[in-house]
This record gives sequence, structure tokens and C-alpha cells, in this order.
Amino acid sequence: MKAVLEAKGVFLEYVSGRGVVEVLKGIDFTLERGEKACVVGPSGSGKSSLLMVLAGLLQPTGGQVHHRGRPWPANLDRAAGLRRSNIGLILQEPILIPYLTLRENVMTAALADDVAEGMMAKAERLGIADLLDERPMRLSLGERQRGSILRALINDPEVVLADEPTANLDFRNGLEVVELLKENLGVASLVLVTHDTRIIDQSFRTYNLENGILGGG
Ligand SMILES: Nc1ncnc2c1ncn2[C@@H]1O[C@H](COP(=O)(O)OP(=O)(O)OP(=O)(O)O)[C@@H](O)[C@H]1O
Ligand SMILES: [Mg+2]
Repeated sequence: MKAVLEAKGVFLEYVSGRGVVEVLKGIDFTLERGEKACVVGPSGSGKSSLLMVLAGLLQPTGGQVHHRGRPWPANLDRAAGLRRSNIGLILQEPILIPYLTLRENVMTAALADDVAEGMMAKAERLGIADLLDERPMRLSLGERQRGSILRALINDPEVVLADEPTANLDFRNGLEVVELLKENLGVASLVLVTHDTRIIDQSFRTYNLENGILGGG
């Protein structure tokens, strides 16, 4: 069985006004089907960068990331986009389109009409069924965070990549959001990036990213 995601010898350099920053220095990482993994590490250690590389949204400067045994292409073309639709992305900031209701925001990500049926059940489990007709600006941050989880799960993705889904939430709300995420994952694989070690589930395989090297696991 092919791994869902596999990083082999991944290097990533950023070139900016600060010069060349080598963020990832030879990362090997494998995510099997259904596996739940967690990446922790200090601020600025490259966790978000690693997640974007795994998602195929950022090209590594060395090494490769395979998705289901095939490398992500260098161009973000339509074929890559279709493959990426098997991946649910939850970003650090719950970015939603302000002019659309929560329901419309979620449906813009839908790949098929029939996902609307499953959407209600998912929204109920996430505790936001009553809020689907609201615009994001009338929702709390935690509610928007749950909305962005619903959007990430709408197509029953085979893998969910979540970047600090509890950022900006208080501890209790953060724990609740992670619990809801876990309950709604089903058989999907998960990579959860966080610097808050309190929200890590004991059953997750936990990696530590520091100085460009991924340890543990
Ligand atoms: N586009 C960019 N150009 C130049 N440097 C960048 C760029 N994006 C990130 N960096 C730098 O790369 C390093 C890693 O950033 P990254 O956002 O991946 O860290 P992080 O572990 O997610 O941090 P945090 O916990 O604060 O979210 C940081 O030093 C950051 O300043
Ligand atoms: Mg980050």
C-alpha cells in the first residue's frame, strides 16, 4: 500500500531581504493511510512551511514529496488541483469569504452536488448547523474555526492538513476544536501542526521540528 504522503530528503530555502534562510534541512516523513500525526516545534521552526510543501503548494528546493506514490508537479495546474482536492486544508487563520454565508463558503469547496446532504450532519456534529446562513463577520473566531473545519471536511478528504487550528482560541475552546476535528475525521489521515503541546493526543505519532530537522515519530 502506497503512503498517502511521503517526503524524501526535503530541503526548503527562502530568499528574502534577510538573505537565504534554510528552513527545512533534509526532512523524511511518511504518512500512512488513516495515520494521525502531529508536528510540534517553536515559532519560526518551519511547521507551516512543511505543511505547505506536503500539500504540494510550495515546491521544495531539494528532495521530493510524493502524494499516493506520485510526486507533486512543479506547476499548480488543474491536474494537481484535482489531486489536491483529496486533501482538506485548515489554515492558521480561518479565512472565509466575507460576502458569502458560512454555507456558501463551505459549498465553494464542494466537488459534487451530493455533498450537501452530508454537510448538515457534519455541521451538526461541529455545533454550527444553526449558523450556516450567517456571514463570517457575525460569527466568533471559534465558530469560524469550526466553519473552516467543515469546509476542509466537505469532500470527505483522505488526508487533512491542519495548521494550528487552535491558534487564537482559549485553551478550552482549542481543546474542543481539536476534539471535534478528531471526531469528524473518520478514516482520513491527519497532520496536525501546533506549538501547543497540551492539545496533542497521546495516540498521535508526534514529531518535533527544530533547526530544520524533523525528529521523533
Ligand atoms: N515567504 C517567506 N520568505 C522568507 N522567509 C520566510 C517566508 N515564509 C516564512 N519565512 C521564514 O521561514 C521560517 C519558518 O516559517 P514558518 O512560517 O514555516 O514557521 P512556523 O514554525 O510555522 O512558525 P509559527 O509557529 O510562528 O507559525 C521563519 O523564520 C520565517 O520568518
Ligand atoms: Mg506557522
